[in-house]
Amino acid sequence: MKEVFYCPEESTFYANCLESLLLRNCENSESIIEFGSGDGSPVINSLLRNQFDGVIHGFELNTAACKAANLTIDEYKLSDKYIIYNSSLFESSHPESEYLIANPPYLPAPDDDICMPLLFGGVDGATVTNNLLSLGYDNALLLVSSYSNPVNTINHAKSLNYNVASFLVLPLKFGFYSSEPKVKNHIEELRKHKQAFYSGDYYFLAGVLFTKHPECQRDLSAELTQAMTSL
Ligand SMILES: C[S@@+](CC[C@H](N)C(=O)[O-])C[C@H]1O[C@@H](n2cnc3c(N)ncnc32)[C@H](O)[C@@H]1O
Repeated sequence: MKEVFYCPEESTFYANCLESLLLRNCENSESIIEFGSGDGSPVINSLLRNQFDGVIHGFELNTAACKAANLTIDEYKLSDKYIIYNSSLFESSHPESEYLIANPPYLPAPDDDICMPLLFGGVDGATVTNNLLSLGYDNALLLVSSYSNPVNTINHAKSLNYNVASFLVLPLKFGFYSSEPKVKNHIEELRKHKQAFYSGDYYFLAGVLFTKHPECQRDLSAELTQAMTSL
């Protein structure tokens, strides 16, 4: 069993979304909260490639991942820009911020007895994502999977007065974690109820910037729904 989340395609996409959808528009001394930092590589790579004057506060429950992240942060002398706490964001006090970022756990399964339980996203895969939106940050940059009841997440965001300000979509092959038979069979069941969308070995992963900012007039919810359900 792999102890720390490892999926380079997905982590690279998360880093690219962070840079394109958020960091480039947020160059002031903002603080950003991150849920589920993993080995820290997406944020570390983004910080190395961008001028960002603020601080990113990451929360990661997996102790091995947290230790790996902190070693790399020290190696690149980024400890004044990226701080990782070995605790759950849902149960910790954390600094004030307008920004939340996450590549959250989104694996759907009947229960969390799966290869990596910390990747369990609830029965439809959307529970953690929806709970993150419910925290009420002004801006939330989240990865949303097409096999994790994406329509429910988009509707949940709408009910919380979020607009979809921008998004990027990547076709991804089912990987190590989503191919576990217990997970894959469950995703097949969700598809029958229009809660999972995929084609053959491929699903879509979207990086979505949800915002409550009053100046954001546009809302791409319909376009995102169309993209996520088109497989
Ligand atoms: C899909 S992985 C993403 C890791 C990393 N951000 C990346 O993209 O490479 C989700 C991460 O969330 C962590 N996680 C799950 N539940 C958590 C919680 N309640 N609080 C903090 N981290 C959590 C997992 O341990 C895992 O490292």
